[in-house]
Amino acid sequence: MATKAIARGKDGEASSVSQIAVLVVHGPNLNLLGEREPEVYGRTRLTDIDKELKRLGRELEMKVETFQSNSEGAIVDRIQKARGKSDVMLINPGAYTHTSVAIRDAIAAVNIPVIEVHLSNVYKREPFRHHSTIADIAHGRIMGFGAESYSLALRAARTIAEESRRRSG
Ligand code: DQA
Repeated sequence: MATKAIARGKDGEASSVSQIAVLVVHGPNLNLLGEREPEVYGRTRLTDIDKELKRLGRELEMKVETFQSNSEGAIVDRIQKARGKSDVMLINPGAYTHTSVAIRDAIAAVNIPVIEVHLSNVYKREPFRHHSTIADIAHGRIMGFGAESYSLALRAARTIAEESRRRSG
């Protein structure tokens, strides 16, 4: 959930504001970004994507945590750990997008709004990439913008979290 942060106003006065907590989950083979099929996924490395998300998070006053694993079980464990701690989740499940009922069930279990992210536009690619096990439980999906898909999703995450705060008063 939102964590407390100290903000300083123009007069230097400290005040307590709650920061939106965002978890970013990257699935299998995304650790190879930059080297892996650059014509499809671009030349930006995962470490640079994560760095940019943390920078943008600071600009948007959100706390961004990132996680990558090639293992389905580890991804399920990380999603479960976010329960009650993260306000919004960005997830690129990589190839598990197309196969994983376990990741879908974990997302449904934790009750955190999720934005599904892909570097490539999966609909321009092989038919087996057109199905996503999480599309119908995601708040929204962003794809086809390369590394920028993540930045766009992070901006959307802020809107989603603010809306849900307004709703809960
Ligand atoms: C991907 C698309 C998937 O089909 C593929 O298996 C990936 C990356 C993307 O970001 O475009 O690993 O999720």
